[in-house]
Amino acid sequence: MACNNLAIALVHYPVYNKHHEVVTSALTNLDQHDIARSSKTFGLDRFYIVTPSIEQRKLAERISGHWQNGWGADYNPDRRQALDIVRVTPSLSSAVADFQSGFDKKVRIAVTGAAHRTGSIALLEFRELLQDKDQPYLLLLGTGWGLTDEVFADADLILQPIAGNGTYNHLSVRSAAAIMLDRLRGF
Ligand SMILES: C[S@@+](CC[C@H](N)C(=O)[O-])C[C@H]1O[C@@H](n2cnc3c(N)ncnc32)[C@H](O)[C@@H]1O
Repeated sequence: MACNNLAIALVHYPVYNKHHEVVTSALTNLDQHDIARSSKTFGLDRFYIVTPSIEQRKLAERISGHWQNGWGADYNPDRRQALDIVRVTPSLSSAVADFQSGFDKKVRIAVTGAAHRTGSIALLEFRELLQDKDQPYLLLLGTGWGLTDEVFADADLILQPIAGNGTYNHLSVRSAAAIMLDRLRGF
């Protein structure tokens, strides 16, 4: 049975810090809420939060849980619906393994970043690829100072960066997610 063939993973490891060292970045409450809401709005049913830190995973579960089962669930049911699609996983490979269930074709990884890289494809082209509903794609978003070169090297697709009017294009990951989803799944 084919499931929704696009999912997002917000990656907290492996990412760079300011000194270009590979680190685990800290979870941001706003990213969890806003990317879940954008994902739900554009029809995704899985948004993975990837972090090897057990403390950070507990925090992510607690944030979702507050709006799913706690006081927040009654106070704001819309937010509960969005946070219902959040899945907290320790690694990229565990996110891929989870997403793979329900698909026969191998999950393909699409990566994003603010810098231009050779061989990258336009979001419009990716939108066309997504028409093959049997082919699952996991869209990776970075945190910290962005996804590592190894993640780009291992990816199946690299997406062209979102460009603005000038040379500056360093969007927050929340904004980048919303813009991409609109271009990939919007009307
Ligand atoms: C490097 S993180 C920055 C995290 C930062 N702490 C924040 O303000 O959200 C931003 C992530 O958003 C995405 N992103 C940011 N600007 C982008 C752009 N112009 N085009 C495509 N993706 C972009 C990439 O996934 C990138 O890894």
